[in-house]
Amino acid sequence: MKISLTVNGTQNTANVEPRILLVDFIRDTLNLTGTKLGCDTGQCGTCVIQVNGKPVKSCSMLAVQVDGCDVKTIEGVSQHGQLNTLQQSLWEKHGLQCGFCTPGMIMTLLDFLQHNEDPSEDEIRSCLEGHLCRCTGYHSVVRAVRDAVVKARQTQSADLLVGSAD
Ligand code: FES
Ligand code: FES
Repeated sequence: MKISLTVNGTQNTANVEPRILLVDFIRDTLNLTGTKLGCDTGQCGTCVIQVNGKPVKSCSMLAVQVDGCDVKTIEGVSQHGQLNTLQQSLWEKHGLQCGFCTPGMIMTLLDFLQHNEDPSEDEIRSCLEGHLCRCTGYHSVVRAVRDAVVKARQTQSADLLVGSAD
């Protein structure tokens, strides 16, 4: 089947098998390997991307379902090679260890922070419930998110948390 979609601001057209998973399409066809495949069963959250601005588990969707959609992956978050505020805080506050779970967490958190500009630690933990980190780095992730929130507020630039390819 032929599908057309926007990925990180760029228009794409591709022929896909109706059964191919969205995560496989992104990684194997589009070569956007920042999106990770962990459990393949909708449990770990490593495969989260945004479709039409909402986080989705790309292992739980078919590629044909994003025909006509606006898709954003972790590759679309930094701007001209510069980390956005959340990415920078994760880096500075040791919010990533092996980093395998990090892209999925970021794609979920960016949407979360759009709707909650000053989340508590409990709210951040609740937001990340669908994400499993095998390195058990949750404490530092929560610290990093709080750090990003403070930085965004100090610079009065809420859009610093959004990323570039909107
Ligand atoms: S790979 Fe999609 S939720 Fe684990
Ligand atoms: S940082 Fe290694 S799985 Fe989360």
